[in-house]
Amino acid sequence: MDNFIFYNPVKIIFGKNTIPELTNEVSKYNRILLAYGGGSIKKNGVYDQVVTALANHTIFEFQGIEPNPKYETLMRAVELCRTEKIEFILAVGGGSVIDGCKFIAAAVDYEGDPWEFVGDFTGKSIKSSIPLGTILTLPAAGSEMNCGAVISRANSPDKLPFASQKVFPRFSILDPETTFTLPTAQTANGIVDAFVHITEQYLTFNANASVQDHWAEGLLLSLLEEGPKVLADPENYDARANIMWASTMALNGLLSVGVSTDWATHMLGHELTAKFGLDHGVTLAIVWPSMMRIKKNNKFNKLLRYAKEVWGIGEGEDAEKIEKAITKTQEFFESIGIKTHLSDYGIGREDIDGLIGQLDKHGMDRLGERQDINLEESRLILEACL
Ligand code: NZQ
Ligand code: ZN
Repeated sequence: MDNFIFYNPVKIIFGKNTIPELTNEVSKYNRILLAYGGGSIKKNGVYDQVVTALANHTIFEFQGIEPNPKYETLMRAVELCRTEKIEFILAVGGGSVIDGCKFIAAAVDYEGDPWEFVGDFTGKSIKSSIPLGTILTLPAAGSEMNCGAVISRANSPDKLPFASQKVFPRFSILDPETTFTLPTAQTANGIVDAFVHITEQYLTFNANASVQDHWAEGLLLSLLEEGPKVLADPENYDARANIMWASTMALNGLLSVGVSTDWATHMLGHELTAKFGLDHGVTLAIVWPSMMRIKKNNKFNKLLRYAKEVWGIGEGEDAEKIEKAITKTQEFFESIGIKTHLSDYGIGREDIDGLIGQLDKHGMDRLGERQDINLEESRLILEACL
């Protein structure tokens, strides 16, 4: 296991009827930006709970942060924050709203065009941020407990991540009951996103990181057990609670300490979303099985461990066990309603050149835990997804 420093200051408030805790968490601020998406929170009662909790505050609303949040939309919120001297930003929604609010928080006092810090994962370009908190309504991205975000640009193939410790939420309120209204497809997207977050950090090569390995396997088993339950019964509180907590724990930094991480599937996935508008979780369900097959030599030992510890596959030749585990993974994604081939979405061989061009433009020519996936191998991986 390599040396590491683990830092995560986010206060998590978890459980039934926790939104009223918001009043205490923002007691020292007055001028609050309430930022949300297309309006799902107005249909499921979350909005009313938030407005009640903020009864003694001055609220400025910003509605309309879209899925795969756009820089152009977010800059309108940045202007509002500057004009109204906002003291605190509250993100209410899923990963897109939370990521969008991290961008807004960092952009308000940024000198220059804030697009400059999108793509910077070092955190060096962000010097300050308005404090922010979140109320999560879609377990998936893990943004509620990390310092990363992914921002897109309208009319361009740009969908890029940034990170800075300055944009860690002060707190996140996770009430599983807010997820009862999720459409099946979004519940499934979230399960796949959390699943692949874990495998991007776990399915690399052996680092003798026993704690991280067993932790990852436990989270994967929870998603496999609880996922079908929430799809069968969307108001199964305990299953929703387990999915919510597993998604948050999948990408809060704990799994990635002391080990090398992959993230190639995510980088290819972002290009698919940028070009074709596919949901983030869908892109991962398409790419991840082919990534495992084409990079199985890099991942050999961990794939054998994954086959045994997660899928109970211990008998047979090694290569056969690995292929069985990959097939099981792909079948799981399909079983929760997410198709796993590019052709299922009308994407063909003729589209791959454009995707490779995007990867090249974004400097994504050395991907993976060994930084050995060049553009040619990315092409092979995408062709295997057809
Ligand atoms: O627009 P609203 O009204 O919020 O409706 C949303 C949206 O239409 C809806 N929804 C959310 N909660 C709901 C609900 N509908 C009914 N009931 C509820 N309780 O679901 C739709 C999708 O929401 P979105 O926030 O886009 O989905 P998700 O949470 O999957 O976030 C995806 C974004 O997260 C980024 C992705 O790139 C993508 O932009 N990611 C962020 C990461 C991070 N910050 O660490 C890492 C991830 O890998 C990911 O890249
Ligand atoms: Zn993701």
